[in-house]
Amino acid sequence: MEILGAVLALTGVGVLAATAIVPEAPKANPHAADPWVLPVGEPALPEGEPAAPIRRHCALCHSYDYIATQPRLSRTGWAASVEKMRAKYGAPISTNEVPALVNYLVKNHGKE
Ligand code: HEC
Repeated sequence: MEILGAVLALTGVGVLAATAIVPEAPKANPHAADPWVLPVGEPALPEGEPAAPIRRHCALCHSYDYIATQPRLSRTGWAASVEKMRAKYGAPISTNEVPALVNYLVKNHGKE
């Protein structure tokens, strides 16, 4: 009986120790069935020099994808949009940087 008690006590300690050491198994994601799953990661801004001004000046306040998913604009439209970002929202863009930005936007997200 004493031996059985000791074995039980040791087993108990063993179980406790095991519980303390073994990391908790990952719980099932409670939101697994949630349809509102946000996209992972930031959509890529095209690599390379042509997009550099956009990377530098436009992706500060909102994502590049936010720009890229807007309706396509004419040159006049993009010029007005960049001006709006500067004048109304305070985008730190000097006037001599505007043409490169507008050219890129017209080429990649322009219409006609
Ligand atoms: C200083 C912060 C800032 C910078 C830098 C910035 N934007 Fe924006 N942009 C905004 C804000 C604020 C909005 C409006 C968001 C809203 O209404 O939900 C916006 C909205 C837009 C929209 C959606 C249409 C609209 O007019 O609301 C476009 C397109 C856009 N920005 C393009 C650009 C481009 C191109 C650049 C780079 C030349 C740029 N943004 C840089 C702040 C900025």
